Amino acid sequence: MIEKWWHNAVVYQVYPRSFMDSNGDGIGDLNGIISKLDYLSELGVDVIWLNPVYKSPNDDNGYDISDYCDIMDEFGTMEDMENLLKEAKKRNIRILMDLVVNHTSDEHPWFIEAKKSRDSKYRDYYIWRDPVNGKEPNDLKSAFTGSAWEWSEETGQYYLHLFSKKQPDLNWENPNVRKEVWDLMNFWIDKGIGGFRIDVLDLLGKEPDNGITADGPKLHEYIREMNKNTFGGKDLLTVGECWSATPESAKIYSNPDESEISMVFQFEHILLDQIPGKEKWDLKPLDLLDLKRVLGKWQTAFNGDGWNSLFWNNHDLPRIVSRWGNDKEYRVESAKMLAILLHGMKGTPYIYQGEELGMTNIRFPSINQYKDIETLNIYKERLQKGYKEEEIMESIYAKSRDNARTPMQWNSSPNAGFTTGTPWISVNPNFKEINAESQIHNPDSIFNCYKKLIKIRKTNKTIVYGDFKMLLPEDRSVFAYERSFNGDSIRVVCNFTGQSVWCPLCDEAKKSKEILVSSYKESPESGILRPFEAIMYRI
Ligand code: NOJ
Repeated sequence: MIEKWWHNAVVYQVYPRSFMDSNGDGIGDLNGIISKLDYLSELGVDVIWLNPVYKSPNDDNGYDISDYCDIMDEFGTMEDMENLLKEAKKRNIRILMDLVVNHTSDEHPWFIEAKKSRDSKYRDYYIWRDPVNGKEPNDLKSAFTGSAWEWSEETGQYYLHLFSKKQPDLNWENPNVRKEVWDLMNFWIDKGIGGFRIDVLDLLGKEPDNGITADGPKLHEYIREMNKNTFGGKDLLTVGECWSATPESAKIYSNPDESEISMVFQFEHILLDQIPGKEKWDLKPLDLLDLKRVLGKWQTAFNGDGWNSLFWNNHDLPRIVSRWGNDKEYRVESAKMLAILLHGMKGTPYIYQGEELGMTNIRFPSINQYKDIETLNIYKERLQKGYKEEEIMESIYAKSRDNARTPMQWNSSPNAGFTTGTPWISVNPNFKEINAESQIHNPDSIFNCYKKLIKIRKTNKTIVYGDFKMLLPEDRSVFAYERSFNGDSIRVVCNFTGQSVWCPLCDEAKKSKEILVSSYKESPESGILRPFEAIMYRI
C-alpha cells in the first residue's frame, strides 16, 4: 500500500464555541484556539478538525452557513483565521475545515433569493415541491423532529430540510450548485488548509421523491467530480461523515486510487446503543460482544483497499468514558483503557476536545440549561407525546449532544479557565477535579496516556500498518487483539468491567519484553486484569 502522510497522523477535533474564549464574551474563538496551539503540539497531534467557523446565524451552532467565505462574528475575522493557519503550520499542524454543503442557512443569499420567486436564478439551488392533497409532498422526516418539508408562503411551495427548517437542503442535481461548492472549496484550499471533514456526505445524492436520503444513485459520481475539481492530487486529508457506511461502501469512498476521499467516519459501533428502528432517545444496554464483533469487522474489512477512521467521540455524541467506561470510581482507568483500545487499532485516530482529559457527560438539572436544537426539540416532542419529564431527562443525560459541548476544562479557576465572562453553556461542575492543568505534568494522567499513544503510533509501523487479529472473541469482559507486521507483534488486552477478571493473557503480558503503555502504573498481575485495566505489550 502506498504510504500517505495521514496514515500515521492523529487528528484533534476542536469545537470552537467551547474550546477557548479570548475576549470574555463567553464564546470560544479563533484567537482562543491560537493560544492553545502549544497545548495541542505538546499532546502531539498533526491535524485539527475545526467544526464550522463560517458566518452563521447559529440555529445549529454553525452547521447553518450564511457565507462560506467569511468567519462567524463571535469567532473572529478572516485575518484571525489566516493567523490560525500560519501559527498551526509553524507547529506542523494542519487544519481541516468542516464542509457543510448538504444544506445552507435559510439566511444564505442563495436561499433568500430563491425563496422570493419561482423564477429566481437561485430557485433551483434548493428542493421545492408542490403540496400533495394540500399537505407535505411525502412523509420524509427531519433529523431534528417533524416533517422535512417546510411551507413557503411567498411562492406556495414546500422546500426540503433534512435538518432544521433554517437548514434548507441544496439541490445537488443542479450542476450550478456543484460548481459553487467546488469554488468555495478551492477558496479554502488556496488559503492553505489541510483538507475537509465533509458533513453528512452520504446524503448528497438524495432523491427525496423516492424517499431516498442516504446513498443515492448519483452520490459517488458527485464525489468523484468534486475530487477532480478540487482536492484531487493535492495530498489533502478528506473524511466524510457517513452514518450509512458499510465496509463495502467504505471501500468505494476510500479507494486507494484516490478517486474519492481519504476515509469515512462510519458509526456502526456508535449505533450499538440504539435499538434498531427506534429513536436514539430510547435507551439500550451495551454488550461488549457486539462491540467486538463490529470493531473487529471494520478492522479486517480492508486488505489495502480502503482506510479506517478511529473515533469514540465527537460534538454530536455523549462522552465515551460515561458510556463504555465508568465516569466515577474508575474514570481515570477506564478513560485510559478506552484510549489504549482505540489507539492500538488500524486507521487514523480522532480525539475530541476534552477526551484526552477524561471529560464526562453533563447532567444539567433543568432543560433551560440545554442549548442544542436537537435536544430542545426532542424534549418538546416527547412532552407532547405524553412521556414523563424524568424519563425524557434520563434520555437527554445519556444522549444529548450538549454532553460533548460543555466548555473545555483548562484549570480549576472560575469557568474552568475557558472564559472570563459568562459561558454560553454552563461548565461541567467537575472541572476542579478534571482539567488540563492538573494533568499535563502528571505522568500517570489520561493526558499523558494519550500523548504516549500518539508517540507509539509515530514510532511503530506495526500500529499503523499491522494486520489485526481478534483474541478471545467469546470473552464477555475482555477485549483483546494482536497487531502484527514484518515479524513484530503487539498485543492489546482490555478489561471492560469494574471487576478484576481472570484473563489467560495476563501472564504473557507480565513476562513481555516490552510494555508500551498501560492504564495502571503498577506492572501487570499474574492471572487477573484489574478493573478497566488495559495493557499494550510486545510479544
Ligand atoms: C452532522 C453534524 O455533525 C451535526 O452537528 C449537524 O447538526 C448535522 N450534520 C447537520 O449539519
